[in-house]
Amino acid sequence: IFAKKAALQIVLIGYMGSGKSVVGKALADRLELPFLDLDDHIEEELGMSIPDIFRKKGEIFFRKKEHEYLKEILLSKDKVVLSTGGGTPCYSGNTDLLLDKTPNVFYLQLSVASLTARLADEKDHRPMISHLKPEELQEYIGKHLFERRPYYSRANHTISCEGKSVDEIAAEIAAKL
Ligand code: S3P
Repeated sequence: IFAKKAALQIVLIGYMGSGKSVVGKALADRLELPFLDLDDHIEEELGMSIPDIFRKKGEIFFRKKEHEYLKEILLSKDKVVLSTGGGTPCYSGNTDLLLDKTPNVFYLQLSVASLTARLADEKDHRPMISHLKPEELQEYIGKHLFERRPYYSRANHTISCEGKSVDEIAAEIAAKL
């Protein structure tokens, strides 16, 4: 009689390179929900790429906009699978709304070694790490993840993504809804 309450908003969080966008898309397809990538949304709204926003406006401006759009999306209650940026849950303005008030937050967890391997070829469009030399990446990610882990760990579910395909991860999330 009581249908399982539909999961209207599903949010993916995790470090850069953890697969939030690809998994988000696969999950949205599987659940037939709209997909939104918060970074893409910010770029579209501001008409500027993320590296340009950081370069021309600075990180604090980016964090304010990130919070503003996140709030708008979550408060709209529109159905969505939302992939966030790696820093989205880590700034005080974002934290309460995202980690305490949104019921379906999934942390995509990967080891420092796997993140480093993935980000080695993908750091140039990421202003947090684009200035690093390849040999500096692992140490930076290790420390940065240590700082951010307390936020990520407050998700409702932690999904270990080590050695799993995108479809396996999406299926695992869908099974927990
Ligand atoms: C950031 C992660 C990026 C993007 C911005 C800042 C971060 O998103 O929001 O460059 O602070 O970790 P991805 O996690 O999609 O790379």
